[in-house]
Amino acid sequence: MKRIVILISGRGSNLQALLDARLPASIALVLSNRPDAGGLDIARRAGIPVQVLDHKVFASRGVFDAALECAIEAAAPDLVVLAGFMRVLGAGLVDRFARRLINIHPSLLPLFPGLHTHRRALDAGVKVHGCTVHFVNADVDHGPIIVQAAVPVLDGDDEASLAQRVLVQEHRVYPAAVRWFLQDRLRLDSGRVRLLGREASTGTDNALVVPENLH
Ligand code: GRF
Repeated sequence: MKRIVILISGRGSNLQALLDARLPASIALVLSNRPDAGGLDIARRAGIPVQVLDHKVFASRGVFDAALECAIEAAAPDLVVLAGFMRVLGAGLVDRFARRLINIHPSLLPLFPGLHTHRRALDAGVKVHGCTVHFVNADVDHGPIIVQAAVPVLDGDDEASLAQRVLVQEHRVYPAAVRWFLQDRLRLDSGRVRLLGREASTGTDNALVVPENLH
């Protein structure tokens, strides 16, 4: 069975969605850079080994990254899943786990990389917003896109209501993307991801799936 390591920093709702999906994999470790991350309790309740590496106690980013690399490596993962992990990973670490390191970002990349995506989407007046699961490369929030889900931006939306609408979709697409990885259905080709084994008859780009269309 393939092994997954999940990195978190916060409440862990994506972690919960991944657990609820009953993926055919062993979650070998949940690692947080924050000792107070709510997701740690979710993992503990599920009987998953947890580890905290508090970035604040490390002398430098490089030393933190080295410790992180060691901890992840010790769990021997086939896949490393960033689920609300709020530290930028160093280039060495990204390189080490290349092609087996994925992230979820709460915008339709390449729009709104970085922080405060929902506020920025509202400020920009976009009518469609969403989330993206992508392979991580050295260019933060710019790696090859695995799947996206779009939601409408409604007239009365504020940051919280829009975030909530996107989050519902995050909880759908992240387990789907991880499952595809486990099934060996993701092919990286010239910076693009192809999803193997979908109905050719849908005629859609396999890398982009609207919410209704996930299977
Ligand atoms: C999610 O919106 C994720 O896209 C972003 O951080 C948030 C984490 O939420 N990177 P949770 O901890 O999974 O509930």
